[in-house]
Amino acid sequence: MARTILAIETSCDDTAAAVVEDGTRVLSSVRKSQIARHAVFGGVVPEIASREHVSMIIPVVDTALRKAGVASRELNAVAVTYAPGLIGSLLVGVMFAKGLALALNLPLIAVHHLAGHIYANQLVRPLAFPAVALVVSGGHTELVAVRGHGVFEVLGRTLDDAVGEAYDKVGRLLDLPYPAGPHIDRLAQSGIPRFDFPRARTESPLMMSFSGLKTHVMHFVQKYRRDYPGQSLPVQDIAASFQSSVVDVLVDRTTRALGAVGARQLLLAGGVAANSALRRALAVRAKELGVDFVVPPVEYCTDNAAMIAAYADVLYQAGRFADLSFSPHATLDLTQVSL
Ligand code: KG4
Ligand code: ZN
Repeated sequence: MARTILAIETSCDDTAAAVVEDGTRVLSSVRKSQIARHAVFGGVVPEIASREHVSMIIPVVDTALRKAGVASRELNAVAVTYAPGLIGSLLVGVMFAKGLALALNLPLIAVHHLAGHIYANQLVRPLAFPAVALVVSGGHTELVAVRGHGVFEVLGRTLDDAVGEAYDKVGRLLDLPYPAGPHIDRLAQSGIPRFDFPRARTESPLMMSFSGLKTHVMHFVQKYRRDYPGQSLPVQDIAASFQSSVVDVLVDRTTRALGAVGARQLLLAGGVAANSALRRALAVRAKELGVDFVVPPVEYCTDNAAMIAAYADVLYQAGRFADLSFSPHATLDLTQVSL
């Protein structure tokens, strides 16, 4: 008998629901993005996000069930993201999931958002252990050892800005729309990385830092405007130079992590996993090292509920169900929820 899980994800600015069988077969994955509501502010406004989740959650869950062709009585469990994220946003998903599980008399599964991002890769092919996951999104930048299903150890992370955050902040300097990641990625493709932007060194070889790079780009742009008044910025070359610095640092740290773990597989995850230069560079490096490189299709890289269902299936099989008393958490280290 297949395990059919309905998952709900509301940790940031996407209201998402999905129905997935056995943690691998996506029957439906529905996502209502709020980007248009937040773009005018240049970033996510938490209060607006929570309110949008409240108004979208019922239609999104309804649509996910309808598209999957699954009746609520055919479900085996309800899963929901409970950490980390915007607390008001998480609360909407968690309260809704609790109510639904109670009403349908179904077990409830509480999922860590980053475990979900990592398990988006299981929608592509089975995981092989030990693996290393590089999670790069708007809020997170982490290197994680995955030694078995649900066995996580955070090896390194950013000391300051997340990679996606750095993309979005540099995008603002270049007057690009929010979120700027895809725009910088596109501009960089026709630029030359001729500016020597820094590659931050950190004391620990698995840690990363991106705020110095962002500040460097800011000073560069200010100086360029002073030195060449009235001239337009060489945005393509700035984008290419910034991206090449980011990719160099990520590939370097990931290579060290793969070596330290003796990994068989490299899993890329999170919104920035959509980046064309990063995907290409990691694919080349993994090939050199004889490591299997997995990256989800773009729709499962950015926030979605199918990935939450994929990890919920691991917890289901391990019998790790939540009772109605659990609360969402704005921050929670992945290592703490390791099985
Ligand atoms: O995972 P995600 O959808 O949301 C969070 O959990 O944060 O990631 C969104 C981030 C944004 O910062 C966006 O600019 C970045 O992913 N992003 C990209 C690309 N596509 C999205 N960054 C670089 N290159 C891309 N192609
Ligand atoms: Zn995310």
